[in-house]
Parts: sequence; structure tokens; C-alpha cells
Amino acid sequence: MSRIIIVSNRTPGKGPAAGGLAVALRDTLAAREGFWFGWSGKLVDEPSPKAKFDSIDGLSVAQVDLTREDYQAYYAGFSNSILWPSFHLRLDLATIEAHWYEGYRRVNTQFARALLPLLKPDDIIWVHDYHLIPLASELRQLGARNRIGFYLHIPFPTSDALYAIPHHQELMRDLSRYDLVGMQANRDVTAFTEFAEHQAPSTLAGSPLKSVDFGRTEVAAFPIGSDPDAFARLAASPAAIKMIKRMERSLNGQQLILGVDRLDYSKGLPQRVEAYEKLLANNTRFRREVHMLQVAPPSRDSIKEYKQTSDELDAICGRVMGRFAEPDWQPLTYVKRAYGQPSLAGLYRLARVGLVTPLRDGMNLVAHEYIGAQDPADPGVLILSRFAGAAEIFEDAILVNPFDTDETAEALRMALDMDLPERQRRWQRLMKAAKKHNVEDWSKAFLDRLAPASTAGTGTRDILYLASVA
Ligand code: G6P
Repeated sequence: MSRIIIVSNRTPGKGPAAGGLAVALRDTLAAREGFWFGWSGKLVDEPSPKAKFDSIDGLSVAQVDLTREDYQAYYAGFSNSILWPSFHLRLDLATIEAHWYEGYRRVNTQFARALLPLLKPDDIIWVHDYHLIPLASELRQLGARNRIGFYLHIPFPTSDALYAIPHHQELMRDLSRYDLVGMQANRDVTAFTEFAEHQAPSTLAGSPLKSVDFGRTEVAAFPIGSDPDAFARLAASPAAIKMIKRMERSLNGQQLILGVDRLDYSKGLPQRVEAYEKLLANNTRFRREVHMLQVAPPSRDSIKEYKQTSDELDAICGRVMGRFAEPDWQPLTYVKRAYGQPSLAGLYRLARVGLVTPLRDGMNLVAHEYIGAQDPADPGVLILSRFAGAAEIFEDAILVNPFDTDETAEALRMALDMDLPERQRRWQRLMKAAKKHNVEDWSKAFLDRLAPASTAGTGTRDILYLASVA
């Protein structure tokens, strides 16, 4: 069977906090051999052209270092100050420095050059996320004829936002060099299709005057999931129980409203705290009866817009404290720190409300994990942004528009007042949906489509796929 080579900017880290993706792909890699390839997280003056192999939690991982200059242009610059905000429709937060594109391209070339000598002709290559859109082009230019798939973990932008990105046409041409492009949600495939039709109407009309030809690339939605059964087990683990006991002591009977997000402007954190403020302002009966906990590990904090989001959140949390706190009662706790999955599973299980309200999100796995960790006898309620990819899967959550803080405040009231039979009914359906969209099936579905058993190992690109845009 062909080996699977996973490529992503960030490789799985050491330690027990490995995420669902690393766990799911570890099983895939164990069954198919292969390895994970990506950035080591190290910055050096002169990176070696060769990748270094390491074994991380049983995974074979090949890593390359970056120069400080390339990190700045490729990671902080083009990937996270241009692509990330644009794909999340936050052009107001994008910093467009067109020269970053050279660094972005340079690192993709560096990755391709270091990866190529490690490849066998029939290896299947699976590239992840927006940092590495040009990787297939770079590999093909060096002669690779392997089947190469790409998975976009973040939303695909509207055409207007895409046009705001320098070199967007080249990036779309790069996408067309993949055999399969996977996206999180139908919404993303629709946005892509709209771009493809608008940008290259001639492809659809069969005219030779096409700008980007997606005729050899299949584009489809493969919504990622978690392992809800593993989260259920984790929620009953000693570390989770320790966290639950600790929290129960401090909550002293109050109902917990929980948010867990990277500190990122796409997560809608200030809006979320404002909604909570409105809940307390409009419903005095909840004061002293509820407590909000927001866990927000810092992220990409060398980028100005992330610092501003952090300051904004500090300010609004301070405002809510100043307005409602009393000497013996605090309405909220805000923790800028990361926790391991067992502790998070405990928090999820204890929370009466899981508040997952990103302004825009590829999928949002916190929603999946929250559902997995619930106690079937006394489950909590998921409040979910309709702009998360997860909203296409979890119809039984309370879906909200996160920009409308009155609506979110009302959803909070509904969730807190919801009776047990209704909570159970909703949770059972949510759990069914989470199980149906589990991460293992996700990786299998993608790989089966990228390299069906009958074609895996041919090492050619001669199989013509019907483009879903056609
Ligand atoms: C999102 C992206 C991932 C990224 C992660 C953490 O989930 O889709 O590609 O790895 O955020 O961000 P970071 O910049 O720390 O890698």
C-alpha cells in the first residue's frame, strides 16, 4: 500500500496535549507507514536544506528550520497578516505588504526541495492549510508526479476578499495543481465555485481562453470532526475529575458558561463577553447564579492585530467586572493560558452552556469536543455561531448570529432556562451528528477520494477527475 506523507506548517508537538488531528493521522500513518513533514518551530541563521527526522509520540516527523526573515514574511506576514484575515473576511485587519509573498513562496520552495528526496514515486501526499497553498506547484516543478491533496482548515473567502489578496491568481493556479482540494463546509465549496465560475467562466463554457483551469482538480467538502467517544472517556479521567471537583468548589452551585478559544479576532470574544453583560443586565435573577469562564490561550502574539484583540478583551472583561462584581461575587473569570485536553474535558462536562460564537470559523472543534464530553444524564447546551462550519452539522445547537449580542444574550437565557428533557433531546442528536462526523472517518474519506484503492500507487496524474465546479 502507498505511504501517506502529511505536510503542515506546524507539526504535532511532544507531550500529552496532542490534538485530534495528530491523533487521527497518527493512526493513519501507523497503518500506512509514511511520515509527517513540516516546520520544526526553530529559527536559525542558515537552515539545513535537509529535513531532520524525529520520533514524536510514536509519529515519524521530518522537520526543517526557518530563517527569522522567512518566518516573518511567510508565517507572520503573508500567512497570518494577509491570508488569515482575508479568508476570515476581516480585510480591515489585513496588513498588505506585497513583498511578503516572496518569503511565502521561498518557504514553500524550501519545503518542496527538502521533501522531494524523501519521496517514493507512489507516495500519497496530503498538504494541510493556507500556509502551503503553493506546495504542489513547487513539487511538480521539481518533477513530482505523486497524487497530492490539499485540505483547507479555514473558510474559503468570498471572491471580493480573495481579490484583495496580492497574487491571488497565482494562488488559485497553485490550488489547481492539486488532485483533490478538501474544504470544511458546503459554504466553502460554494464560495470556491462562485470564484471559479467568475474567474474562469471559459472553463465552464469550454472555451480555450481560461485563466485558471480546475478541470483536473476535484473540490469537495470533507467536514472535519473530533473523536467524541474519546472525549467522553477523557471527561471521566482522573485529571478531568480533579478539575471538575476544583471548579465545583469554586462555583458553589452557580451554573457555568464556558468559552474555550485561541485568542484570535475571528473568535468573537469581545462580542461574547458583551452578550454575557447583556444577559446580566437584562436578567437580574442570574446575578450570583451564573459564572462565565473564558479560556483564551495567547496566539500569534507578535502580530499587532492579535495584541489589540487581547487588549480589547482585557478592557471588556474589566468593564463587566466593574459593573457587576461584588466583594463576594465575580461574574467572570478570564484565563489567558492553555490547558491539556483532560482538564478541558472536565470543564466541558461541568459547563451548563458551551458558548462557541466565532465571527467566522472553518469548523470549530471545541463545539465537537464539548458535545463529546457531556454527561448523557445531565447534558449542557451548545450555543453555536451560524458562521462556524460546525453549524452545518449541529442543527440542534442554539444557533446565533455572533454579531448580534442581543440575540446571543437571549440564547444564553434560553440555554440556562432549558429543562432537562429538552437538553437531553438536543444533546442526543448532537452526539449522533458528532459521531457521524468523527475525525477518523474524515481522514479515511479524504484519502479514499485522493487515492482510491484501484489507483493508489500508480504514481501518475493520468486519472481525470470531474471538477465539481463543472
Ligand atoms: C488554525 C489553523 C492551523 C493552525 C492553528 C494554530 O487552526 O487552521 O493551521 O496551526 O490555527 O495557529 P498557529 O499559528 O499557532 O499554528
